[in-house]
Amino acid sequence: MAALLSVWLLVAALLSPTTLAQDGTCTASRLQLSDPPYESYFLSDCHSSSHVILTSPGSGSDASPRLLIAWPAGNSGIAAFFKPENGNSGTLGLHLENSTASGQILDSVNLPGNPNPRVGVSGFIHFDSPAILTLPILGSIRNIRDYTEGGGNLNKDAQNAVQIVKYNDDGATIYRTWFDDTTTTWLDFSPSSGADAVKIIPGDKYTVRFGTGTYRFSATFNYPQMQQLSPQQVLDEASAGLINQNPDQTISLSFLSYKEKLLAGTWRFLTYFGRDSMISALLMQPILSQGEGGAIEAVIAAVLERINRADGTVCHEEIIGDYSTLLNRQKGIKSTAPGCDYKMIDTDYFLPVLMKNYFVDTQIGKDRASDFLGTKASFLAENSGLAYSALAQLTAEKIMKTSAAFAAKGGQTVANLIHLKDGESVGEWRDSNNGLAGGRIPYDVNTALVPSALRAIAALSSAGFFPDHSDWKDTADQYAQVWEDSTLQFFQVNVGASEAKSLLSDYVSQSSFAGPSNGDDITEDVTFYGLALGSNGDVVRVMNTDDCFRHFLLNTTNQTQLSAYLGQTADNILRTFPAGLSSDVGLFVANPAYGGDASIASNFKNSDYHGTVVWSWQLAMMAAGLARQLDRCRTGDQPDFCNDGNLQKKVLTAYNHLWDLINANSDQLSGEMWSWKYDNGFQVVPFSSYSTTESDIRQLWSLTFLAIHWDNV
Ligand SMILES: *[C@@H]1O[C@H](CO)[C@@H](O)[C@H](O)[C@H]1NC(C)=O
Ligand SMILES: *[C@@H]1O[C@H](CO)[C@@H](O)[C@H](O)[C@H]1NC(C)=O
Ligand SMILES: *[C@@H]1O[C@H](CO)[C@@H](O)[C@H](O)[C@H]1NC(C)=O
Repeated sequence: MAALLSVWLLVAALLSPTTLAQDGTCTASRLQLSDPPYESYFLSDCHSSSHVILTSPGSGSDASPRLLIAWPAGNSGIAAFFKPENGNSGTLGLHLENSTASGQILDSVNLPGNPNPRVGVSGFIHFDSPAILTLPILGSIRNIRDYTEGGGNLNKDAQNAVQIVKYNDDGATIYRTWFDDTTTTWLDFSPSSGADAVKIIPGDKYTVRFGTGTYRFSATFNYPQMQQLSPQQVLDEASAGLINQNPDQTISLSFLSYKEKLLAGTWRFLTYFGRDSMISALLMQPILSQGEGGAIEAVIAAVLERINRADGTVCHEEIIGDYSTLLNRQKGIKSTAPGCDYKMIDTDYFLPVLMKNYFVDTQIGKDRASDFLGTKASFLAENSGLAYSALAQLTAEKIMKTSAAFAAKGGQTVANLIHLKDGESVGEWRDSNNGLAGGRIPYDVNTALVPSALRAIAALSSAGFFPDHSDWKDTADQYAQVWEDSTLQFFQVNVGASEAKSLLSDYVSQSSFAGPSNGDDITEDVTFYGLALGSNGDVVRVMNTDDCFRHFLLNTTNQTQLSAYLGQTADNILRTFPAGLSSDVGLFVANPAYGGDASIASNFKNSDYHGTVVWSWQLAMMAAGLARQLDRCRTGDQPDFCNDGNLQKKVLTAYNHLWDLINANSDQLSGEMWSWKYDNGFQVVPFSSYSTTESDIRQLWSLTFLAIHWDNV
């Protein structure tokens, strides 16, 4: 996943969520978000949904002025790059204007077509000076990303298929038929309000010239559309009030939600990602719609459909639309069949947890289980005809098989922990190449995801699921107990107080951190659990927020261990970076200050995607996780820490401190992640200020604060 700008302004959220009235008329939903130099416009009607992003970089910048349209169906889109006829690229200003006919900035297009209607958006684009269209890319978002992030990579065959022809007397149409020989993407321009005719300039490559003024554009394609879940449909009835309270987040959630699947973000990740959709569903479960056609079932079905039947692995990212046809063609196969990326090792474990939370713990889920799990898969040709129940069992079998050795008597060794796949440098959510600092055995997977999946498999088995393996109700629980109790020790790091102080001052001088070392806050040993282990079992000594998985996903039972574990999480939240994880801008997901290793510190900076930066959903999961643990003090079966006054108070203080940080950063929370600078305290800086990676303006798992609130615990 990639970076998201954090500082954005909500310019206008017009409150007209998509609805299909009984008489068949459709109300569109619209949203406009400003994130200079990007201006985003969303339009969904009951036929299609579009995200239009206009880039007007301003003088002094050499970024290209650009019109980009992203469509969820097929992960499709158009990017049109412009330059001024004279002068450097920043001198060309672009903006969209309201339609004089509809008064709207975008109108939907829905034309009959065969075999599919031609759908999309139209609008009016204004050029401040004469402009040349230098490059159109039409087809898959993946092709656009290959160009913008892949150092200008263009697929020759796709580009050669782009045609430019006259549109009426004074306009131009740019279109391309996809590799499937069936689907076409069109971008039409025509002058409005007396602007010059659009001029097609023949030459080496066709280019198109526009005069100063306003042009109507229409961006359409004839690919099969998905069924969008309106804000009312994606939310549980009891949560419908959120639509008026949080129009931006609920319209964004709806834009990313379809009966077929939930999408990770827009515009760059506008497709299925297993981890993102399941973590979002777990965090937002209390507000998402249940039952047939609802959001929870959309997430579970999308995951089951995409499981690798050879070994039960859950799909990380799907490959669909024009891009899948291209990849098939590169393998010499003429086919539009979708594919999947299976390299992640964490994603499998979220599936049983989500299934248990729905099919065992909710009445609607219980009632739906038999029909839902009897559904036959149809998305991947390989899985066609397999029942969802069989696919779910494949993943559970994989989890049982790979966790058995560690759970066996005397099996608690590094070799029996879960490792990244051979040859892969990534495998869980910290999936930038340096995210685990070279570690091979991730902390979150081994200490939280494996045992919680095993607990869920046991609960599903007890409830009658997986009838081929009725022993799992006992064996999975036995395995879970061992994984819960005996994995933390491998990752534990203890640093004596005086060593801690000296490591902090070394870090401050080596990293040129402008703030204080906060070494004075260290009055006792510092304890934390490192990000990962190397293959040899050495801990990667980077403090981190992944404790949130254990707090959110497990009710562990070893009281000594639970008390100590909660205590160190609380300490690390209460201490300010670099002594701990806190800062004015939120909790940093990683803190390398105790690593005593300049090379590790240099891979965890505030310009690193998984470095000393803040991620919205990690704040949400930590808040939800601490609330769950504190909530256990209200039950009859109180854990010991509830009766240790100082410890219980410390955990509660850390929880409240975390919420103070969350509330102080409410403007950032819908963004994926953000960075900072130190100037008399930590100040928010958009990640894009430090990285060339363009951001997703909205990301599914950054909408989870819709469901997570400061509970009185
Ligand atoms: C379009 O109209 C809205 C009101 O409907 C107005 O707030 C906005 O400023 C207009 N935008 C432009 C670019 O004229
Ligand atoms: C609980 O965990 C601690 C260390 O974390 C261990 O020493 C102890 O034996 C465990 N207790 C039980 C009952 O398993
Ligand atoms: C943990 O216990 C609480 C009750 O104290 C319960 O609500 C929650 O579902 C349990 N979580 C798990 C993962 O078992």
